[in-house]
Amino acid sequence: MKVLGIETSCDETGVAVYDTARGLLADALHSQIALHADYGGVVPELASRDHVRKLLPLARQVLDEAGVELQALDGIAYTAGPGLVGALLVGASLGRSLAFALGVPAIGVHHMEGHLLAPMLETPAPCLPFVALLVSGGHTLLVAVHAIGDYRILGDTLDDAAGEAFDKTAKLLGLDYPGGPAVAKLAESGDPARFRFPRPMTDRPGLDFSFSGLKTFTLTTARENGDDPQTRADIARAFQDAVVDTLYIKCRRALQQTGLRTLVVAGGVGANRALRARLAELEQAQGASVFYPRPEFCTDNGAMIAYAGALRLRAGQGEGLAVEVRPRWSLQELSVVA
Ligand code: KG4
Ligand code: ZN
Repeated sequence: MKVLGIETSCDETGVAVYDTARGLLADALHSQIALHADYGGVVPELASRDHVRKLLPLARQVLDEAGVELQALDGIAYTAGPGLVGALLVGASLGRSLAFALGVPAIGVHHMEGHLLAPMLETPAPCLPFVALLVSGGHTLLVAVHAIGDYRILGDTLDDAAGEAFDKTAKLLGLDYPGGPAVAKLAESGDPARFRFPRPMTDRPGLDFSFSGLKTFTLTTARENGDDPQTRADIARAFQDAVVDTLYIKCRRALQQTGLRTLVVAGGVGANRALRARLAELEQAQGASVFYPRPEFCTDNGAMIAYAGALRLRAGQGEGLAVEVRPRWSLQELSVVA
């Protein structure tokens, strides 16, 4: 079954073709980072308009690269939420109408299910059941996954998402959007011993997160210590160490609580090298195996949507003819794929 996947939930236009028999055939991405850079964050209306401009050419390119004729597609998957409503509608409109024109089924995919399943595109792929740590610009979730679609949320953030905390801290340090990679790079030359930021909510039981206090720490530390380049690097290091350590502590706790031995990490912050190095310690500490998508599939992409959609379409799921998106949508509402 050949499925075209379309991702337009935020600031990347992603398209891919996944074949349930042969795997991923092609994928391409257009990033809007340059478009939003001057504004220090994503401008929703600009995002929607850019998806309109880029989506069709990108879809043609991916079908060409995959060597798949439009008529050979067996289904279309598009991100239906959560995300920016205008941006989502671009992908959903094209996806749903293309499926109608071709007479094939369409499926609206949950963006975070896409992230969660992205590590399954790699070899070796993780085996169910597992704990998933989803760390993106909009979400910080620990999820117990017992089957595709059977998602029990173990922990969530009470305020900022991990990626959002990186982005806000970057702004305070005068770094460009998106802040995650910029903070990570600056942190490399930081002194880990100079400042110590708290590990929020690790001193009490539970698996929820809170990252908004760290930006206050960044702000006050910068005010009190000046903003020479070394101090900024030291602050970036203290911030990153605090986020990484907090995520490590909660992942270890989630594995202990569930008795599971497999951790899957996905979402943009999963590309962070310091986080990967720290989570590798879980192999020793918990006898756990940790799985990631390749770095370009940590951030938003069409491949994860094509893959998640293909699993649901293959199980006979699909949407009606209405173009529907869900800007807010909990993972726990999804149906199980038998
Ligand atoms: O998954 P994603 O591409 O988009 C959302 O669905 O949100 O995640 C983007 C987020 C941004 O906040 C970005 O700053 C962060 O992931 N990010 C990183 C790194 N690469 C991307 N954060 C820390 N370290 C990185 N290397
Ligand atoms: Zn995402």
